[in-house]
Amino acid sequence: MNTLQKKYLADTRNNSDLKSGQSGHVEWNCPSNIALIKYWGKKPFQQPINPSVSFSLMHSTTVMTVDYEVKEKEDGLVLEFLVEDQPNVLFAERVLNYLNHVSKYLPFLNRMHLKVKSVNSFPHSAGIASSASSFGALALALCNIEQLLFGTTADEHDFLRKSSFLARLGSGSASRSVYGGYALWGHLADVDGSSDETAVSISGIVHPVFLNYRDSILVVKSGSKAISSSDGHRLMEHHPFAGARIIQANKNIEILLRALSVGDTYLFTEVLENEALTLHGLMLSSNPGYILMQPGTIEILNKILIFRKETGNPVGFTLDAGANVHLLYPAAIETEVRIFIENELKKHCENGWIIHDEVGSGPKETKAQ
Ligand code: DP6
Repeated sequence: MNTLQKKYLADTRNNSDLKSGQSGHVEWNCPSNIALIKYWGKKPFQQPINPSVSFSLMHSTTVMTVDYEVKEKEDGLVLEFLVEDQPNVLFAERVLNYLNHVSKYLPFLNRMHLKVKSVNSFPHSAGIASSASSFGALALALCNIEQLLFGTTADEHDFLRKSSFLARLGSGSASRSVYGGYALWGHLADVDGSSDETAVSISGIVHPVFLNYRDSILVVKSGSKAISSSDGHRLMEHHPFAGARIIQANKNIEILLRALSVGDTYLFTEVLENEALTLHGLMLSSNPGYILMQPGTIEILNKILIFRKETGNPVGFTLDAGANVHLLYPAAIETEVRIFIENELKKHCENGWIIHDEVGSGPKETKAQ
């Protein structure tokens, strides 16, 4: 069994300490993140086949409000769940399965009546990973409720580590969202504390130029994708290039960490784009293969390459598992890049839709009673 899993199973609190009717309210605001080194492919127990690195966004967040009450009997969790004040059967089912799954680490859930409300700051259809911010926010709320119910305290490091561990079990990329700035998920021999079970913050090694980096999200196609990330991960299980991908991701992460620590925005851009194109290359070469890029995606990528060549500006793109382009660049050249986006890229976006975001400072507890 894995180390943290063992620790959290051993650390569980006793439900006989709970009083029926004990109730409260927690509220967490957690960001989505954009992966620079992509998590693509899983091992058992929701662990990644390769380490990944991302930064958390400032404006694209989920606020999760949880009202909880201890039931008289321990006869299973009752969940009421609303997304944007509306019932969402599919997501509610995913969350219920998740809560039942993590109840082995948080047995109090079996005596809970939870009313959960989830609101995103960004439109669902924008293609920003809402599962990362949602499961991040939910895991933080659960760790917070555990503390309030049992009067336990943990230092910030332990609190975030457990939240990241639990968030990962909901959605892998969510493990990175509980940290502000830059996070690494997956074991790397050179990074102390790094683990396949939980993400760690690496903001401490990051050069200031990257700490307020910009991410302009060019929405080429809104709406849901033909193939979900979960299906994409599954297709990596028998992918002919899986072994080579793991080696490449580990090399890329080493280069990225170097670029991040010395402030080399050009090297950063090189790895960033290699990862994005690799991710989509892996989709193309899956069996069955599939294409998530749209004609507008390709137009935008080509224009970014030309702009970089002509101006020498360190602008770079990355792509998630979708058609939308994330344009990453230093804050210092924001004015110039914004003009380029307006003049050249906006026309390829659906209804000219662009979301300007940047590196964020991480989750916040927004209200607690
Ligand atoms: C392409 O975290 O959404 O965005 O663990 O199945 O929920 P699940 O997958 P998910 O995959 C994210 C894939 C990615 C790359 C990344 O964020 O690292």
